[in-house]
Amino acid sequence: MAVSGLLTFTNFLLLSILALYFSNGFPNLFNPQPNQTNLVVYVHDYFTGEDASAITVGGRKGPESSVLEFGTVIVVDDPVTEGPKIESREIGRAQGMYINSQSDGKGLYMVFSLIFSGGEFGGSSLEIQGSDLFTMKEREFGVVSGTGFFRFVKGFGIMQTESMDLVNLRAVIKLNITVKHY
Ligand SMILES: *[C@@H]1O[C@H](CO)[C@@H](O)[C@H](O)[C@H]1NC(C)=O
Ligand SMILES: *[C@@H]1O[C@H](CO)[C@@H](O)[C@H](O)[C@H]1NC(C)=O
Repeated sequence: MAVSGLLTFTNFLLLSILALYFSNGFPNLFNPQPNQTNLVVYVHDYFTGEDASAITVGGRKGPESSVLEFGTVIVVDDPVTEGPKIESREIGRAQGMYINSQSDGKGLYMVFSLIFSGGEFGGSSLEIQGSDLFTMKEREFGVVSGTGFFRFVKGFGIMQTESMDLVNLRAVIKLNITVKHY
């Protein structure tokens, strides 16, 4: 009697643990291999114009500081599109900030959310963090976490300047992101 009681209790415990595991959306026990997703998006970072999406909030000379100057802080709510043209479908926003964090002014530290509102990943988001040494053709950055479709995500991305109007500080940046998730 005592032994079978113990067995039942052990079964109960095991089932409870399994139920907890699945109900919390943990990675599937029987499918531990993460899935890999690649996505290419374009971020429109405009400091000037009617459609300006980036503002300088502070720096050595206050809000008048240049983005190209060490110490300048920029806040962005940039449109993210499927293709390089602003007319192509908007699938989300890049919201966050970047800081000119290299003493010679040639490097940014960026931290922002890629919030998808449409397309395959609508309702999900990716957290981007890393340095942007923008004089280089290709810059690699980290994808540190995510939500929705991208829970438990880890990955990296390659950033390239697709086009740049230096006079008006309007740039289109291509992000090629590769992530692993469950
Ligand atoms: C990951 O891949 C497995 C097996 O191919 C699939 O069953 C599962 O739905 C995928 N998960 C996501 C989030 O796409
Ligand atoms: C994206 O990057 C991967 C390597 O990480 C590369 O194989 C692929 O060709 C790139 N895609 C585009 C559209 O640039």
